[in-house]
Amino acid sequence: MNNPTDTSAWKALLAHSKEFKQRDFRLSELFHGSNNRFDSFSLRHENLLLDYSRNYLNDATKKLLIDLAHQQQLPQAIAAMFAGKAINNSEQRAALHVALREPGESSEHGEVIDTLARMEKFVNRVQAGSWSGFDSNRITDVVNIGIGGSDLGPALVTDALSAFATGQVKLHFVSNIDPSHIATTLLDLQPESTLFIIASKSFCTEETQRNAVAARKWLLSKLEDEKATSNHFVAITKNSAAATNFGIDPKNIFPLWDWVGGRYSLWSAIGLPIALAIGMDNFRQLLAGAHSMDQHFKNADLADNMPVMMALITIWYRGFFDCHSTAVVPYSQGLKLLPAYLQQLYMESLGKSVDVNGVAVGFDTGEVLWGGVGSDGQHSYFQLLHQGSDFIPVDFIAFATAAVADAQTQHRALLANCFSQSLALMAGETDPESPHQYIAGNKPSNTLLLSALTPYNLGSLIALFEHKVYVQSVIWNINAFDQWGVELGKRLSRQVFDALEAPGEPSGLDDSTTSLIKKVREWNP
Ligand code: F6P
Repeated sequence: MNNPTDTSAWKALLAHSKEFKQRDFRLSELFHGSNNRFDSFSLRHENLLLDYSRNYLNDATKKLLIDLAHQQQLPQAIAAMFAGKAINNSEQRAALHVALREPGESSEHGEVIDTLARMEKFVNRVQAGSWSGFDSNRITDVVNIGIGGSDLGPALVTDALSAFATGQVKLHFVSNIDPSHIATTLLDLQPESTLFIIASKSFCTEETQRNAVAARKWLLSKLEDEKATSNHFVAITKNSAAATNFGIDPKNIFPLWDWVGGRYSLWSAIGLPIALAIGMDNFRQLLAGAHSMDQHFKNADLADNMPVMMALITIWYRGFFDCHSTAVVPYSQGLKLLPAYLQQLYMESLGKSVDVNGVAVGFDTGEVLWGGVGSDGQHSYFQLLHQGSDFIPVDFIAFATAAVADAQTQHRALLANCFSQSLALMAGETDPESPHQYIAGNKPSNTLLLSALTPYNLGSLIALFEHKVYVQSVIWNINAFDQWGVELGKRLSRQVFDALEAPGEPSGLDDSTTSLIKKVREWNP
């Protein structure tokens, strides 16, 4: 692998891109030349259909993008990931999240199978009421305390699959260091029937630590017995020593491993809240759906490979069309947390400016990813998509089936809104009565249509985005699995906290920070 801009494919793509920048180029006209554009520019994997026909692509573009993938040795990089090679080279680690969803019979990771078995036992006990809290109370509420990958994935999936909830326990998620997050969450809960999951791979993330301490304080202030913590706290971590130190019973600690990145961890014991909400069988379905996408990613030819094609389209726009952001718009209330989840997956992975060797890349890497549910978005940010000056490709996501019963007609109205937005973005309104009504169109989009919002399909969808991210990182020759930038903020926050806590004039900080600290003291003496 090398700098993609040095490859012959990149240079050819640069020349080829001019075809789509001509004044008279119309995206909709790409459909005129052939009556089977959809067949050539769509892919299907099981219950998932990717329609990528509304993009600046013709057969030549596709061929050049595939050439680029080969010249950047994508097939070898895919094989390296599945083989457990240390593809996170700055930390010398594998990124083997695919092993977390390998079915038991073919898994080479006994520790994964054992952990799933432990999770199953635990989930069954909590759901059956035989894992009892203080004074033999049944657990009715579970609070997951974690942040980033230890929060966003479980929160997304639990919310998205609420129709599959078994109803025995209610899940709550606390992530923010803002003390109001935990305080408002605990307001209606009873300590004797509340279980806390402290989810932290490192077990030293400040937000999680402080919220865990607040939770323990709340519990002990009500139950007034140190021993009460043992049945009310479990931890998921790689750092079992720190969890034990915190006071968590070692038999209540579920393991994590170096080769599971935080933002790729919902498939591990970090998924415990999901399993508690929807039951272990459904959690295994989620894993099975992800595994099926893994197999597709590993085995399908590049041109037939959904994550690969999605990634190449983003690379095309980012590299050659001045694209600074992509919008993800699920037409599904259940997926309202998907954009936030994808922001971590995407931007923590692809927000890099040096290549795998530490050399400045000199081209644009990860763009901003943002979004929100449709149809709500149509009444807020869609105006900018239609008539704003930025070029923003959109990923639409929709389900053929309603998530609730007796709502087929309303669900079809939802789908009509989704499909008509991608049509409107492409077609525009180029012959209006007034210039204010001129809508240029030519805005590209993908549509991912799934049969239904099920655990299996959701697993496939999330794995699809994980692999898309990896493909982009390989072609850009950057490391998708480290996040050194985040560490700097963590270090500085400790220094600023000390300055806020210490009496007297803050020292060693810039004038802006010092003045803000002084104002806090004045307003909150
Ligand atoms: O935000 C940085 C990060 O390291 C993420 O990658 C991770 O998901 C999150 O913090 C939480 O980390 P931990 O699980 O170690 O508490």
